[in-house]
Amino acid sequence: MHGDASWHSPRNLSRSIPKTEWHPASWQSFEASQQASYPDKAALDRVIADLSRLPPITNSWEVDALKEYVAQAQRGEAFILQGGDCAETFDECTSENIVDKLKILLQMSLVMIYGLKKPVIRVGRMAGQYAKPRSADTETRDGKTLPSFRGDLVNRSGFTPDDRIPDPQMILRGYERAALTLNFVRSLIDGGFSDLHHPEYWDLGWVGHSSAASEYHAIVSSISDSLDFLETVSGRQFHRTQRAEIYAAHEGLHLHYEQAQTRFLDRRERWYNLTTHFPWIGMRTAQIGGAHIEYFRGIANPIGVKVGQGMTREWVQELVRVLNPNNEPGRLTLIHRFGAKAIEEHLPGLISAVRETGSPVLWVCDPMHGNTESTADGTKTRRFDKIISELESAFKVHESMGSYLGGVHLELTGENVTECTGGARGLTDGDLARAYKSTVDPRLNYEQAMEVAMRIAGLKR
Ligand code: PEP
Ligand code: CO
Repeated sequence: MHGDASWHSPRNLSRSIPKTEWHPASWQSFEASQQASYPDKAALDRVIADLSRLPPITNSWEVDALKEYVAQAQRGEAFILQGGDCAETFDECTSENIVDKLKILLQMSLVMIYGLKKPVIRVGRMAGQYAKPRSADTETRDGKTLPSFRGDLVNRSGFTPDDRIPDPQMILRGYERAALTLNFVRSLIDGGFSDLHHPEYWDLGWVGHSSAASEYHAIVSSISDSLDFLETVSGRQFHRTQRAEIYAAHEGLHLHYEQAQTRFLDRRERWYNLTTHFPWIGMRTAQIGGAHIEYFRGIANPIGVKVGQGMTREWVQELVRVLNPNNEPGRLTLIHRFGAKAIEEHLPGLISAVRETGSPVLWVCDPMHGNTESTADGTKTRRFDKIISELESAFKVHESMGSYLGGVHLELTGENVTECTGGARGLTDGDLARAYKSTVDPRLNYEQAMEVAMRIAGLKR
């Protein structure tokens, strides 16, 4: 966030709703924070032109279907589970990784459906989560300073001048991997992998005798029994729950990438971002009058905005007005990330500010990004207890304000990593080095993620 002097400045608020005619590149006349600086502009333009010609990854039917689900969640009739890596990497675009991510999302959602007694909509931070905001434009190691690594969509993580030069070809490589990822997800779903009658497909080989796994299996058998029972007595199959859908989401940070796949659909008479279903605006790029808000106001997708400390009533109200001027249901999700210590003080004000706008919004809690800390040796981690505490506070505050917490946004993996401390196995700072794989933010591992799901489902105190 630092480096953005404009972040707290009330001056920006008075710039108000942009009056320009919107088009997919209109953001280019606005100040765009967190963008890479490409040395070869002509090469970038060629890539964007190439990308604009490629077929889209999603389509408007799917995007509109998700918007309808978000509208249901806004009314309290459904719950959204958003989760995945902080950043996907090109290297980790493998069948194992994709399957594991699917398995954990499916397992968590099954537990949540059971406990909440509501449909749970699964939205992966996947198939395009390749660009990252950075707190500084440069990184210094041993006296040497280079441009920061901004994610695989932009440059390379190695610490050499060559690695850090933004390379437009990586935009195309990222698009291809996003397409490969979603293609594989779709084929698994079509093939029956996500059939709720066969949760045994989702077992993770390595889990073995973990306590989270046995609790999960107990839940699964009672769900299977009740599904079978219901189908037997009603004489029909529950198509809605039979084949779980998975939607894709990523931070819409790299505006050239988003712009290139923004299509006008005559049938709908609206512009759609077809790189994904649900793009969101990060905390560092949500300035009123900034390029990201300009881009997002013109697309028809359901969108998210990360909100947190430092966001004033006026600011959040202006965001809602610019991004959802017609109070359209399903359009706008506010993902709050205050941190366990700050949420109870700051969330109520935000809820009442948004209520004054009259716009429906979906409230989602991200209990990860306000709770990042460093250990004594400088390892980035998150304490499981703080994650749970922020979630509990979120449910409590929304209930006391008469609003509905309709989703969670988590950084997690199906792998057996040690990146967050705490949880069922009581991981300590000393355990982190054992299996720390994230190059950016620390993720919940399988057991920690399942425990979060069980607590949300009310199956565990
Ligand atoms: C993220 O979701 O990885 C992220 C950078 O979050 P935020 O914008 O909330 O800091
Ligand atoms: Co993150």
